[in-house]
Amino acid sequence: MNARWLTVSAAAALMLGTVQVAQADLDLAKKSGCLACHAVDKKVVGPAWGDVAAKYKGDAGAKATLVEKVKKGGKGNWTDVTGGVPMPPYSPRVSDADIETLVDFVLSL
Ligand code: HEC
Repeated sequence: MNARWLTVSAAAALMLGTVQVAQADLDLAKKSGCLACHAVDKKVVGPAWGDVAAKYKGDAGAKATLVEKVKKGGKGNWTDVTGGVPMPPYSPRVSDADIETLVDFVLSL
């Protein structure tokens, strides 16, 4: 058998897995209304989620801070990008568990 081909299919299967997980997270973001103001790779009304991930890279407290921010809303961290538009509060419209999933997703980008 051709070992190289096996490696290629294993890599393809792994990639497929990643895409499916991201798709589930994106569906949740869409269902929750986040995509009205956010995209992964560009600014819409709020900052690009990829930029959010970059800003908090290596910050161990980021998850807790961002979960609070999505629950309660707020502004001031992205004024240079948004011109001072606030992030709306999402709790209890979106469950705590879903907010955590969404923040994990954003930080994983
Ligand atoms: C009405 C527009 C709007 C919607 C809808 C929205 N956001 Fe935001 N979001 C913003 C704005 C504006 C900011 C920048 C806030 C700031 O300057 O601190 C932001 C910031 C963020 C940040 C970074 C916060 C920080 O302090 O660095 C995260 C994470 C985030 N949003 C996640 C979400 C999630 C998850 C949802 C859906 C549940 C969502 N947003 C829905 C407008 C929105």
